[in-house]
Amino acid sequence: MDQVLAKVFPTSTASFTHLRSPHVLSANDLSLDVVDELCEIATDFATGRADSHRNAGRAVALLFFQASTRTRLGFEVAAHRLGCQPVGMQDMSSSRSNKRTGESLEDCAAVVSRLCDAIVVRHHESGAARRMASRSRKPVINAGDGWNEHPTQALIDVFAMRRGLRAIRGASIGFGGDPRGRTVRSLVQLLSQEGPREVVFCPPAHVPVPEDVTAALMHRQIRVRIVSDVEVLLAHCDAVMMAPYDMSDIGEAASSGFVSPRTSPDAYVVTPEKIARTNSKALLYHPLPRQDEIHPDCDDLPNAMYFEQVRLSKYMRMAVLDRALALT
Ligand code: NCD
Repeated sequence: MDQVLAKVFPTSTASFTHLRSPHVLSANDLSLDVVDELCEIATDFATGRADSHRNAGRAVALLFFQASTRTRLGFEVAAHRLGCQPVGMQDMSSSRSNKRTGESLEDCAAVVSRLCDAIVVRHHESGAARRMASRSRKPVINAGDGWNEHPTQALIDVFAMRRGLRAIRGASIGFGGDPRGRTVRSLVQLLSQEGPREVVFCPPAHVPVPEDVTAALMHRQIRVRIVSDVEVLLAHCDAVMMAPYDMSDIGEAASSGFVSPRTSPDAYVVTPEKIARTNSKALLYHPLPRQDEIHPDCDDLPNAMYFEQVRLSKYMRMAVLDRALALT
């Protein structure tokens, strides 16, 4: 039982009334009603108010063509908690969609959707989840596709921020690190409907904030600012979502052996000293994994929300799976 969450979110009568498509491919498809409903269902799971075995016996395919810790284990745990059977391969290079045989993603989806009740896919190519959905008979959940999107992480981020801030509406939200990643693109889409007062980016000097990212905010009259020192985010924002300074591995297959550079310039690194110097109350979030952009000495400060975000992720993943399975 999560008593704190039970207080923050009132009892829900969520019954998937707003949910239409069974797929979760892009944050763009998730209206505010859908996000509200998923947050309510996640809260119900967190507080023990929802029956977590209503999908007993169903099989959830976990197809991870790209490295993952939280998302892979999170969906596996969520499937178990729903009474489902998670199935998948430790290494997708042992599937027939490997480089050698080259079975297409479309054929893979056509096959797996005749064996399983839902497909969770992570892939290094943008658009991979949508390609699978085009031939799948069962819901496809995008667990990150290349540089494109990571909609379930965005749902987790909004769930955690709503809880931490009480309301995102009117808040100032900061983004530190590379703004081109899939987590940022998906989260900005969802944030734009939450009505923050402003969104402040602190991107690497050589990386412009993508136009589609700023456009989503400006379209809703949300002020966008760009700064060049993370201390500005700490001093002015209510919540700061950090990301690695260098995200160049995001389009890499699990087997590529690519090694990310690990040093960020000092102006992009959050440290306890900077938090103290700016007297920052900003709540710190991160989809993780981090490189060096949040110093580990921050982990026990009241600002640090990123591991709590992981704990909450389990309930949101349960909600996403539950919703997808209910719609099939
Ligand atoms: C992502 C990862 O592990 O790749 N994190 C996550 O799913 N929680 C980060 C990302 O997609 O950029």
